[in-house]
Amino acid sequence: MALVIVSRVHPSSDVWAPEMRRLMPEIDIRYWPDVGNAAEVEAVLMWQAPDGLFERLPNLKAIFATGAGVDAILGDARVPKHLPLARLVDPSMTAEMSEYVVLQTLRFHRQEPTYAAQQRDRVWTVHPQPHPEERRIGMMGLGELGQDALRMLKPFGFALGGWSRTPKTIDGVETFSGADGLQRFLARTDILINLLPLTAETENIIDTKLLSALPKGAFLVNCARGRHVVDADLLAALDSGQLAGAALDVFHQEPLPGEHPYWSHPRVILTPHAAALTNPLTATPQIVDNLRRVEAGQPLVNLVDRSRGY
Ligand code: NAP
Ligand code: GLV
Repeated sequence: MALVIVSRVHPSSDVWAPEMRRLMPEIDIRYWPDVGNAAEVEAVLMWQAPDGLFERLPNLKAIFATGAGVDAILGDARVPKHLPLARLVDPSMTAEMSEYVVLQTLRFHRQEPTYAAQQRDRVWTVHPQPHPEERRIGMMGLGELGQDALRMLKPFGFALGGWSRTPKTIDGVETFSGADGLQRFLARTDILINLLPLTAETENIIDTKLLSALPKGAFLVNCARGRHVVDADLLAALDSGQLAGAALDVFHQEPLPGEHPYWSHPRVILTPHAAALTNPLTATPQIVDNLRRVEAGQPLVNLVDRSRGY
């Protein structure tokens, strides 16, 4: 089995290959663009396709994404639609995302931005602190990441809610689904967390209509994709006080341009798409399992459903 790895790092510092070779000694790994005899290559591991990749690899049988979200691959017209595409469900990435969600939720719940501003101004004022059961958390997206983050939030005693495309039953979580459930979900959400995939249905979903359906003074945590958000609508909601704060990890353009208003907005906390990173060591077993499945002609795990877009 020959695999091509498309990586931004030099092959000498690549972490994927050593772990893959440990788990699958017979694997033949090549680094783009040095693909060797291209006819032998059956699989490619990549975040985004470089120019000419698919023209040069005529016998590909599968594409493996190095991330959880595959919007960049599905949105790329150069990527052949007949090839199965597997995304990553990486336990280390899931744990990191849950840490990020817990961090931002506690930050807003415990009024940390207010106290940080007070410290800067040397102000000593104690504010009433809502109890966790009075704080309603709303998770948009109840997949691998959304459900794990809710599980990690549970011990704090928050009132947990979640919204997905299809109905779900999750112990200790008030669930909503589909367009019908969205307004009721938003109306009971004080801290809205976005862990949806970016699809034709979810692009620009965080707009004035959605933000206005939240209780006044709600918070937003966006750790999915920048294109879920209409930036002008989010800035207007922050400026009017409809939203009391936003923690943003992802943006329309990354790196976020230096002149973007988010950088200096007093109600925005931002991180550079760092909420949860793929860990090749914990993700490799899934890739190796899928490589063996390609060899055996079996269906891939974590196969992307192109008709759903995730
Ligand atoms: P996933 O397992 O595929 O789960 C997606 C969830 O979203 C599912 O519950 C799905 O509903 C729901 N959904 C999809 N379309 C919907 C719609 N139109 N309306 C309502 N709900 C909808 O995805 P995941 O692994 O949790 O990852 C989620 C996203 O996180 C990724 O796509 C990626 O963009 C982002 N991410 C960000 C970072 C970062 O560092 N910031 C890192 C990793 C991932 P059903 O359950 O009904 O199918
Ligand atoms: C990162 O954003 C991912 O989708 O893996």
